[in-house]
Amino acid sequence: MERSPFSAFLIDKAGDTVRGQLVRMTPDQLDEGEVTIRVHYSSINYKDALAATGAGKIIRRFPCVGGIDMSGEVVESSDDRFSPGDRVIATSFDIGVSHHGGYAEYARVPASWVIPLPGGLTLFEAMALGTAGFTAGLAIVRMEDNGLAPAKGPVVVSGATGGVGGLAIDMLACLGYEVLALTGKAAEQDYLRGLGASGVKLTSSIDHQKVRPLEAGQWAGAVDNVGGPILHWMLATMKQAGTVASIGNAASIKLDTTVFPFILRGVSLLGIDSGYMGSPTRERVWSRLASDLKPRHLHDITRTIELQSLPSAFDDFLQGRVKGRTVVKIAA
Ligand SMILES: NC(=O)c1ccc[n+]([C@@H]2O[C@H](COP(=O)([O-])OP(=O)(O)OC[C@H]3O[C@@H](n4cnc5c(N)ncnc54)[C@H](OP(=O)(O)O)[C@@H]3O)[C@@H](O)[C@H]2O)c1
Repeated sequence: MERSPFSAFLIDKAGDTVRGQLVRMTPDQLDEGEVTIRVHYSSINYKDALAATGAGKIIRRFPCVGGIDMSGEVVESSDDRFSPGDRVIATSFDIGVSHHGGYAEYARVPASWVIPLPGGLTLFEAMALGTAGFTAGLAIVRMEDNGLAPAKGPVVVSGATGGVGGLAIDMLACLGYEVLALTGKAAEQDYLRGLGASGVKLTSSIDHQKVRPLEAGQWAGAVDNVGGPILHWMLATMKQAGTVASIGNAASIKLDTTVFPFILRGVSLLGIDSGYMGSPTRERVWSRLASDLKPRHLHDITRTIELQSLPSAFDDFLQGRVKGRTVVKIAA
């Protein structure tokens, strides 16, 4: 590979202050790994915003190039599963957390974190999906493995206008599920219906003081991106044998609930961790993301920014103002 310097968004800490900035790096500063990738695209997830700004204690090693997602082309590999020119995806594990990540023109990562780009996806589409899409897909695959099917009843999705939420709505609608979108954004009801939601409910319509341990059962499935009282409400309103996927904490890390949904309705609460889900599930989910789970509105809900615009892009994520997905064009 070329030895010349390249651009990277490096996150560092001085005292208690965490700050990310664009710098020039050289290949010898990359971390250890068998596969060196010329990064074409990365993306912004909620976790990236927490990491880049220090709003969450995400980074475990400073300095660290941010970006938990990357897609690109292999330029060097000492692992015989990969050759120069292969198009690949690498997301999660320690990427952008304690190993230099995808916000740089080059990355070097262990081969076990890399998967070949599945047929049916471009490098751009892989990052329009990114960790958000992988997580939505993983949740759906695990819920179906737990018995969820369109005939069992509707599925409710919280954090609906976010990356994971919007992609989950689109994927579930593609599969034939009736989907209710739960959102804090009254102005985005048409957007959510356009993704395939058959109904939209505003979080402000739920009076959390009045939610009892068990309410009338409404949902066969629930995808939760926000945690806290919303997750309690979902559990209380699940139908018999329903399945809830707990993905995120955009509203709260707390969960104050009762055991009634579990022991009186047989509700399952599945924990979804995209970070360290390895083979063969990782390949299985990506292969479905390239086929029957591929969102119909992937391009419509994705905006693209340049690496240079990254520093000003994170605030909207922290304020819950984002809609859809953001791809970062790196060296495409
Ligand atoms: N478990 C995993 O492996 C995994 C993987 C990826 C992401 N996550 C987590 O999943 C969550 C969603 O990720 P994302 O990438 O989709 O984030 P995102 O694009 O920033 O979207 C988050 C959405 O949550 C809602 N929200 C934000 N702040 C809120 C608040 N204070 N109260 C209630 N709702 C709020 C908003 O949707 P509405 O306005 O429509 O309600 C917002 O658009 C995050 O917590 C993230 O850390 C977990």
